[in-house]
Amino acid sequence: MHKNFLCLKDCSADELNYLLRRAIKLKSRFKAGEVYRPFEGKVLAMLFEKASTRTRVSFEAGMAQLGGTSIYLNTSETQLKNEETIEDTARAVSRMVDLVMIRTGPHSRLEAFAKESEVPVINGLTNDSHPCQVMGDIMSFIEKRGSIKGAVVTWIGDANNVLYSWLYAASILGFKVHISAPPGYSINPTQVPDNDDCYDFFLSPEEAAEGADLVTTDNWRSCGYDENQAKRQSKSARWQVNETVMKAAKPDALFMHCLPAFRGQEVSSEVIDGPQSVVWDEAENRLHFQKALMEYLLLGRIEDV
Ligand code: CP
Ligand code: NVA
Repeated sequence: MHKNFLCLKDCSADELNYLLRRAIKLKSRFKAGEVYRPFEGKVLAMLFEKASTRTRVSFEAGMAQLGGTSIYLNTSETQLKNEETIEDTARAVSRMVDLVMIRTGPHSRLEAFAKESEVPVINGLTNDSHPCQVMGDIMSFIEKRGSIKGAVVTWIGDANNVLYSWLYAASILGFKVHISAPPGYSINPTQVPDNDDCYDFFLSPEEAAEGADLVTTDNWRSCGYDENQAKRQSKSARWQVNETVMKAAKPDALFMHCLPAFRGQEVSSEVIDGPQSVVWDEAENRLHFQKALMEYLLLGRIEDV
């Protein structure tokens, strides 16, 4: 039976730590100019049911750098548009390719595809989670600050897919998430890890940021929350990451944002364009983490060189 990468809750600490180590190693070898093409003849299908810049480019570039090729699919240009089921799509597509990445809305739709797929499936974002993003972010933290074990990660803003992946990562890798969300927009208790020692709630962004090693947020227009966007955004105004919030954190705290960002809304320009921000490293590390992930899913663990 093949492996999938659908939600961090299915992963062990050993597996995630291996992937992080391997991603850092593959990145340094790539930067040193080494050519590594273990995927000659392999094909990745990428199905996007939502817009993307980083996820598309990082998977497509990663596959090419490893010697394989990729096929971009979206709902409006496939038979999904004509209501072919996701299960039949999975049965057909997975007989022709080696690996599939999907970005979709309901997490159950990703799971339905994976159930019928003959090849590994990767979650490229659902309404419930964004595991590749958070693993790239943790890789960025490790590069700058060393182990994330015992660290405090502060989440400011409404709860969404990215936060849920942070919570699962915290429960597996042993760090703490401080959450400050607008009233009515905090976590859904059915979507979080059983281990509630890994997160705490704070009323104000400044209280949540106290002692933080990393402050992170996301835009106020998340996928899956389309109906009440105006209300969600108007309730969020107090939850901007700005210099006051960053001053409450540790002096060397990092700022992260999965992007796309909206300056003047969830984050001030001073913070996202300032010295504590590592948002471009995060974006780049999507590439390196996903190369390690694709290698792991297709070839297993490689502890060599
Ligand atoms: N962070 C992220 O997943 O970006 P895209 O939506 O551009 O893929
Ligand atoms: N929470 C955002 C992440 C975008 C990468 C969304 O779901 O749109």
